[in-house]
Amino acid sequence: MIEEFVREKILNTYAKRTTKSKELWEAARKVIPGGAGSGFRYYEPYPIFLKRGSGSRVWDVDGNEYLDYCMSFGALIAGHAHPKIVEAVKEQLEKGSMYGIPHEKTAEYVKELLRRFTAMDMFRLTNSGTEGTMHALRLARAHTGKDKIVKIEGCYHGAHDYLLVSVFPPLSKAGPRWAPTLYVHGEGIPLLTVKNTLVAPYNDVEAMETLFRKHEGEIAALIMEPVPMNMGLVLPKQGYLKDIRKLTEEYNILLIFDEVKTGIRIAPGGACEYYGVDPDIVVLGKAIAGGFSAGAFGGKEDIFSNIYPLGHAVHAGTYNANPVAVTAGLTCLKHVMTTHAQSQMNDLGEDLASGVKAAVEDTGFEAQVPHIGPSGTVYFTDVEVVDYRTASTYDKKKNWEFWFSLLNHGVLTPPGLLEGGEQWLVSAAHQKETIEKALVITESALREIK
Ligand SMILES: Cc1ncc(COP(=O)(O)O)c(C=O)c1O
Repeated sequence: MIEEFVREKILNTYAKRTTKSKELWEAARKVIPGGAGSGFRYYEPYPIFLKRGSGSRVWDVDGNEYLDYCMSFGALIAGHAHPKIVEAVKEQLEKGSMYGIPHEKTAEYVKELLRRFTAMDMFRLTNSGTEGTMHALRLARAHTGKDKIVKIEGCYHGAHDYLLVSVFPPLSKAGPRWAPTLYVHGEGIPLLTVKNTLVAPYNDVEAMETLFRKHEGEIAALIMEPVPMNMGLVLPKQGYLKDIRKLTEEYNILLIFDEVKTGIRIAPGGACEYYGVDPDIVVLGKAIAGGFSAGAFGGKEDIFSNIYPLGHAVHAGTYNANPVAVTAGLTCLKHVMTTHAQSQMNDLGEDLASGVKAAVEDTGFEAQVPHIGPSGTVYFTDVEVVDYRTASTYDKKKNWEFWFSLLNHGVLTPPGLLEGGEQWLVSAAHQKETIEKALVITESALREIK
């Protein structure tokens, strides 16, 4: 119950500001589980309902304005309703929203992805990150002829069965840190489906090698978020990603970087570029499509030669590479996420993170504020966060109070900020003034929850 975590005064303010949201939610929950279109959008006592978004701001149905630092969990890197994207999509819509037959913009778009992810030779498009990781696994299995997959505890790769394990495992059921017990996330996933999924801790090369040795010759791939952004934001230790790359090569295991969150965001070429590590397969989503629904998975030609019609692994989908999403993505990458926009976004991200750190110190909180590029998060803990176990030491009460207090003062961050393991995003639409305002509000929120 949220009342256990958030004091009455803060919840009362929330209730007073959001009466229409509550009404809509009461009606929606009769026909939609939790009244929300995705599990991660629901939170207690009820979620706000939004009506409009423009640039870096959104408005809810009660007329409250928010500075948006959730940005649709990272999909809105260009901001809301960017005029260039709106214009291009309108133009495309008049020519048809779907063809189900190849069109010329797809290769143009893929070339933009290849320009950023230089180690890849080819991409196929999907409609979401979930589809991207699912197809990446199939491709890795087809290429290697092996079945087992390793994932990292605390990483999330979408809602398909194979990887919906050890995402937010309760610590009482998670086993030892260095050899986590596989924990199936939620019900409805047959154990048989995940019997080939193995789990390893983040930032621990030795534990990874132990697992690789134990299953030598059986593992097709290691899939990981190079910078985990579903347990807050955990930075890799110096050299960790390079060591993991070396290890996967030694054991003949494919390395898949799930860059659904880090891709485009932390550098134009994501973590591959930022850390100078080339995986065998990369999965993209969110930011690549300018606020529309598209994902992608890319790899070397020899790996992609397993996909039909070059090979026999199936990748298909009615909505794949639909011209609307491709147009939005192409416009976003070519005309919005320019070098200038990317560096401005990163500079503002630095300003925001250092301002949040200063506010945390000034108000006397014990907290960690890791950040990279335009994203960061606050863990209310005095423990250095290096993996899922250390990320789990945060103070839940402070976390939720901080989130509601920010919201009540007009700053929207991903619900619970850390509860779903999230982080803020400064988009290309944010400006100096948006950051300064957010910092004033952050300090007020911290004082309120003290
Ligand atoms: C790292 C990562 N991979 C995959 C996904 C799944 O993407 P989607 O929600 O588009 O299916 C997510 C979603 O948050 C993600 O954060």
